[in-house]
Amino acid sequence: MHNKIKNSRILVTGGAGFIGSYVVEELLQYEPAKVIILDNLIRGSIDNMSSFIHNPVVEFVEEDVRDITILEKCVEGTDYVFHMAALRINACAANPREGFEVMLGATFNLAELCAKYKVKKVIYSSSASVYGLAQHFPTPETDNPYDNQTFYGGAKLWGEQLFRSFKFMYGLDYVALRYFNVYGARMDTDGKYTEVMIRWLDCIRENRAPLIYGDGSTTMDFVYVRDVAKANVAALLSGVTDEVFNVGNCKETSLKELLEILLKVNNSSLIPEHREENTVNPVSRRLADNSKIRDLLHFEPTISLEEGLAELSKWYFERKQETTFSI
Ligand SMILES: NC(=O)c1ccc[n+]([C@@H]2O[C@H](COP(=O)([O-])OP(=O)(O)OC[C@H]3O[C@@H](n4cnc5c(N)ncnc54)[C@H](O)[C@@H]3O)[C@@H](O)[C@H]2O)c1
Repeated sequence: MHNKIKNSRILVTGGAGFIGSYVVEELLQYEPAKVIILDNLIRGSIDNMSSFIHNPVVEFVEEDVRDITILEKCVEGTDYVFHMAALRINACAANPREGFEVMLGATFNLAELCAKYKVKKVIYSSSASVYGLAQHFPTPETDNPYDNQTFYGGAKLWGEQLFRSFKFMYGLDYVALRYFNVYGARMDTDGKYTEVMIRWLDCIRENRAPLIYGDGSTTMDFVYVRDVAKANVAALLSGVTDEVFNVGNCKETSLKELLEILLKVNNSSLIPEHREENTVNPVSRRLADNSKIRDLLHFEPTISLEEGLAELSKWYFERKQETTFSI
């Protein structure tokens, strides 16, 4: 496939974050002329960027994506944009006005600037949250989005539609990617859904019984972050435009099974303890149908849950050890 990235200038909003930092690492293998990272570090970190922050090709702009003057400077002369800066689902629920400014306002400004400066393609980070509790399992992209109940999911869907309308009105090429449950080294350690992996890793480290709330039957589709980064680059390299794709691992894993695998990869014989469910989770199942991305972008996830959890565990335990020593 033609290397469109070579010698090009690329903007990654949210590039200091969990997924964004892997996208930058993946992009650098294709010899871009410049990668600009726009991130206010509200969640991202310099640590996440340690493998490339000193690379002369990389320019880190520690600013807010809501600052339209800064945003314009970043977009002007740029060939491609990955738009990943966003608030998390629980942050949007806690502060919908800020969610509106970041997820909708800044995304609108970005789309307008991309059209103004004739950016060649935008890769937009959407989410499986747009489905709410899906109607079909595995879930294809054609499942309806009306069961989503969250501000975050609504904002992501609006973003997809925004880029769709800009393609129609101004010819701005884009691809939107609906990630399922992304996990891996550098992941958020206090998110609403994924934090369970981290809490269990703490139990394994401290030799305490891991807790399962409810019967552990809630399922998710866990996709490793390096696979998600590859899906992003595949979306840029391909000639496909004006499409939305699921990015999952196509394996449905219950929380109970997740814990079993986590214990196995860490050679732990801890016995889980069950507690009564204390919250109502409106999304009890997640399972992606990846056939569209496989057929059109030739992307398939390659990292199994066992491999991914082993890599995550290694990262987390090493990190904990470093923080213990530095105290
Ligand atoms: N992690 C997942 O499971 C998942 C699932 C579906 C979709 N997504 C989407 O993927 C993208 C990346 O997610 P992530 O998991 O890497 O999250 P993350 O929080 O690690 O990354 C988002 C980055 O955006 C930055 N940011 C937030 N608000 C900003 C602002 N106003 N100005 C500048 N920078 C700002 C943060 O500092 C952070 O580095 C997001 O758009 C997210 O909604 C993630």
